[in-house]
Amino acid sequence: MPYEIPQLPYSFDALEPYVNTLTMDCHYNGHHKAYVSNLNKALAEHPALAEKSPEELIQNLAAIPEKIRTAVRNNGGGHVNHSMFWKMMAPRAGGLPSGKLLEALASTFGSFAEFQGKFEAAGLARFGSGWVWLVRNQSGALEVTSTANQDNPLMEGNYPILGCDVWEHAYYLKYQFRRGEWLKAFWNLVNWPEIERRFATKAS
Ligand SMILES: [Fe+2]
Repeated sequence: MPYEIPQLPYSFDALEPYVNTLTMDCHYNGHHKAYVSNLNKALAEHPALAEKSPEELIQNLAAIPEKIRTAVRNNGGGHVNHSMFWKMMAPRAGGLPSGKLLEALASTFGSFAEFQGKFEAAGLARFGSGWVWLVRNQSGALEVTSTANQDNPLMEGNYPILGCDVWEHAYYLKYQFRRGEWLKAFWNLVNWPEIERRFATKAS
């Protein structure tokens, strides 16, 4: 099996109370594992494609045979999104980013609080399932965006710096229909050192 689920960098109960243990277990063992398993199934008869990283696959969907393109988009996207998402959160995290990222957020959005408001609003406005992101866009500027389903900003040529899963599976067991509460709770989990590392990455 060419693609494997990465180990979770903390235990299922580590993000309590903001992400409850059952949500974390279902999210990782149910949803993420299924994306990996379905990606492997889709590429089972395409060994050359299966040598590529999942990021490479989703950045060039036009190169994927049409028959499996949607499966690779959804499951490859799901694998990439969740692999980055687990590292974007940490126990006893949150607070403020430091240094250059904080300055860049303030100069782009007016203040850190305005950035947070814009991020939450974009997460709430995403109809149905998807993600909200802070990206570096193709012009090199910071931007808040959202994607549908398991699409990733890499598919649009944007580089994801911070992302939050707004699929119901990410929050419904604890927050039910209150997505806005999940988005506010998320700030207590943001692993800013990892986000700063992504911000400093030159990859596009
Ligand atoms: Fe998810």
